[in-house]
Amino acid sequence: MAKQLPARRLTGIDHNPWVEFVELAKKYDVVNLGQGFPDFSPPDFAVQAFQQAVSGDFMLNQYTKAFGYPPLTKILASFFGKLLGQELDPLKNVLVTVGAYGALFTAFQALVDEGDEVIIIEPAFDCYEPMTLMAGGRPVFVSLRPSPAPKGQLESTNDWRLDPTELASKFTPRTKALVLNTPNNPLGKVFSKTELELVADLCRQHDVLCISDEVYQWMVYDGHQHISIASLPGMWGRTLTIGSAGKSFSATGWKVGWVLGPDNIMKHLQTVHQNSVFHCPTQGQAAVARCFEREQQHFGQPSSYFLQLPQAMQRHRDHMIRSLQLVGLKPLQSQGSYFLIADISGFKSKMPDLPGAADEPYDRRFAKWMIKTKGLVAIPVSIFFSQPHQKDFDHYVRFCFVKDEATLQAMDERLQKWKRELQA
Ligand SMILES: Cc1ncc(COP(=O)(O)O)c(C=O)c1O
Repeated sequence: MAKQLPARRLTGIDHNPWVEFVELAKKYDVVNLGQGFPDFSPPDFAVQAFQQAVSGDFMLNQYTKAFGYPPLTKILASFFGKLLGQELDPLKNVLVTVGAYGALFTAFQALVDEGDEVIIIEPAFDCYEPMTLMAGGRPVFVSLRPSPAPKGQLESTNDWRLDPTELASKFTPRTKALVLNTPNNPLGKVFSKTELELVADLCRQHDVLCISDEVYQWMVYDGHQHISIASLPGMWGRTLTIGSAGKSFSATGWKVGWVLGPDNIMKHLQTVHQNSVFHCPTQGQAAVARCFEREQQHFGQPSSYFLQLPQAMQRHRDHMIRSLQLVGLKPLQSQGSYFLIADISGFKSKMPDLPGAADEPYDRRFAKWMIKTKGLVAIPVSIFFSQPHQKDFDHYVRFCFVKDEATLQAMDERLQKWKRELQA
């Protein structure tokens, strides 16, 4: 075709660094600790809910309401209304989407205009930047930076902080929105109330929207508490709170997500939704509705899945931290999410010349080397940073610990073998 084929909005976003690692991992016999999904079954109640949705009421095979299957929007409104301290109208304040991914896309399309600036706190989940660009916006990055851990203590990603002056300097009259992600992927940092208040103050002061990605909200460890920024004074009216049933119920393939927000903002997301997917598959929504109905009865009790899952995963995190140290990887304590990062600067000084292109950040060369020679997959952290900052953060890799015991066992075997090679 002689005409320019791709739409201009795709310029510069056609390369996805994930694909390279996923493809490479397929070629080797590996233990995959890269991608963020549980490799164990969802809880029985969730599996049964899905089975029932498929084999029960035949009308669940048909279209449902565009903005969400009514029992789901109803339970989301009542469940999250209590947490956010808001009376939510299931028809106006809740939109069910194709995963949290769909929620994010809908939000960017509905709210970000040509030339609008969007502040992205990095390291950041990798779709925020292309979604901003596709909407015609300009991403403006601000980095969380590590501060040294007290002597003798494991470094923690909660010590990665925003510099308040630097953050404030990113707000301009063109700033339309700020994207927040807590607990953060890839760091596992859980933003404290003080940090959220700093962000909230600036959003209020500059009349900026907050797109708050809270998909890992139940995955918090060591007694930390997840706080929704929408629950802070004056924030409900300018915040979109995004969640994921996939992450909540260990069923990432279901791809049911949602956005919660005030009527005057949500109506624009509804317009995008109506003119794109129109509505999401009914049976998955019915299953998620039942899961939340069950969870509402158990919430706050030991039988709550939102309590049991993080308890189990905290043990997996601790297991992984101990194991990675065997070979000189330096894991940082993560307080939330599916992930932890490990510092590889020791390797960078010992083996600086790993194969790869001269301008390729070290962590990417390291991750490829680890796949090929050690059979372990992790994701280089530099891909979660904007291009100009990648070189400054090229000495970390991200591991997913929301994995089955058997996977952790297989990881241990690879690490033991690696350790023997180091001692040989
Ligand atoms: C921070 C973050 N937001 C959103 C998503 C997407 O969630 P979903 O699978 O519900 O689309 C992910 C998935 O990895 C994520 O890590």
